[in-house]
Amino acid sequence: MLKHDCGSCHGLTLKGGLGPSLLAQDLSNKPDAYLLDTIQNGRKGTAMPPWKPFITEQETLWFIQTLLRQQHD
Ligand code: HEC
Repeated sequence: MLKHDCGSCHGLTLKGGLGPSLLAQDLSNKPDAYLLDTIQNGRKGTAMPPWKPFITEQETLWFIQTLLRQQHD
């Protein structure tokens, strides 16, 4: 799901595409609450859509933890 639904804009390796990179190194300095809000409500005026209709707040927090734990080179 992360790779397909998020990867379509953020790049299959999540290094960024239409949307910014979602690699741990780029997210770790951003507050969880801010990431949660971005994913749940989207960003007005940008291509980032709100995911609230599809994923709960709990699931979104899990996504954020998963993104932050990724291994990469
Ligand atoms: C239709 C394209 C699109 C899809 C699909 C998409 N995003 Fe985004 N996303 C964007 C864009 C564009 C931005 C940048 C918004 C801006 O300029 O502020 C963004 C921004 C973000 C940010 C903020 C990053 C930062 O550094 O501030 C996060 C986190 C994020 N997306 C997570 C996700 C997740 C998780 C998914 C899958 C559930 C997802 N996105 C799916 C287009 C998309």
